[in-house]
Amino acid sequence: METKKTQVAIIGAGPSGLLLSLLLNKQGIDTVILERVTGNYVLGRIRAGVLEQGFAKLVRQAGAGHNMDTLGEVHHGVELAIDDKRVPIELTKLTGESVIVYGQVDITRDMMEEREKRGIEAIYEASNVQPHDVKSDNPYITYEKDGVKYKLECDYIAGCDGFHGVSRKTIPDELKTEYERVYPFGWLGLMSDTPPINDELIYAKTKRGFALASMRSKTRSRYYLQVPLTDKVEDWSDEKFWEELKKRMPKDAVKNLVTGKSIEKSIVPTRSFICEPLQYGNLFLVGDAGHIVPPTGAKGLNLAASDVATLYKILTRVYKQGDKKCIEQYSPIALRRVWNGVRFSWWMTDLLHNFGDDKDFYTQRMESSELEFFLNSEAGKKVIAEQYVGLPYEDLE
Ligand code: APR
Ligand code: PHB
Repeated sequence: METKKTQVAIIGAGPSGLLLSLLLNKQGIDTVILERVTGNYVLGRIRAGVLEQGFAKLVRQAGAGHNMDTLGEVHHGVELAIDDKRVPIELTKLTGESVIVYGQVDITRDMMEEREKRGIEAIYEASNVQPHDVKSDNPYITYEKDGVKYKLECDYIAGCDGFHGVSRKTIPDELKTEYERVYPFGWLGLMSDTPPINDELIYAKTKRGFALASMRSKTRSRYYLQVPLTDKVEDWSDEKFWEELKKRMPKDAVKNLVTGKSIEKSIVPTRSFICEPLQYGNLFLVGDAGHIVPPTGAKGLNLAASDVATLYKILTRVYKQGDKKCIEQYSPIALRRVWNGVRFSWWMTDLLHNFGDDKDFYTQRMESSELEFFLNSEAGKKVIAEQYVGLPYEDLE
């Protein structure tokens, strides 16, 4: 077995792992990333594309913000629609903040390139990655690469390995609580090289189910339809998708819909999941490894970013000031913001989707009334806007 050494070992080269490694590198803190699949495989996963300003600032701090700032689009509003009634939520007017529309694949590629340029070590296609002795002062990870077994010694382990990763499983069951809600529908997404239907994103609630019109650029659109969990991508030809989208988007927006051949189509399940706590000894869970939200509200990537921000501040204090005690602040600080994002995503999901017979008639009426109440009031719209642009990051004590 060959032995290697680093200060912070990072499991997973998704957005969380990459962002953390770039930030720590700026502070002179050494990291090694272990990733199960290839870089191209990571880039093949198409996900959301709405970045809060807090995330954008971190990416700039990490030295990977150039493309985001030149190619990303700043959005000052978003629309909610109930059938044909469109309600603008003027983010900047209501909160002074905006969001940036820039794809997760693009931001991941930018961070991958920056990592390579700065010579930060990442080992792709590392198999059997396993953390050990995480409660001790000498944790380590074992893994295999090209048939050779390795031991990576470190001070801390950042579990940035997503929902199906190994890090969360390292925390004994009796020491963690997992909260989960699986929704009875999926999101069918379609990407096409066609101009977006509207300048702003449209989240639409209809009797036929939820739909979302989003975009990546002036010439690339991303649309979603709520579909039953039993549906398969093969059930949805492009034509069938466009026909259904036309029925769910507000009529005066449909006039601007340009259809075309899909360049990607996939179905994602929707769930909320939170693991408490997010720290076990010298192991930290970051991003999807510790929590998942349904995509309504676009909070997944942004909550991963606030975890990274907190862990980055903690590890910087540990290495610069020798204050090891502050690591205990990670889980409470990260979880406060996570629960808020979980609550907002749940609220948006519950109010905008059609749950069919899963919700009784009374509950459905109550929810329609609640949504109307929020959308008919400036205060209500401000509450939505504040959460959509993202709550501020909490500082360490
Ligand atoms: N060993 C090494 N790497 C692993 C392992 C393992 N056992 N298990 C998973 N990984 C890798 C995955 O291959 C993936 O590249 O960890 C990475 C985790 O990346 P993501 O799932 O993208 O999670 P994260 O980086 O936290 O990204 C934040 O929030 O809601 C979302 O869509 C959003 O993906 C985004 C996420
Ligand atoms: C996307 O563009 O993929 C997207 C945007 C907003 C969401 C979810 C997904 O809430």
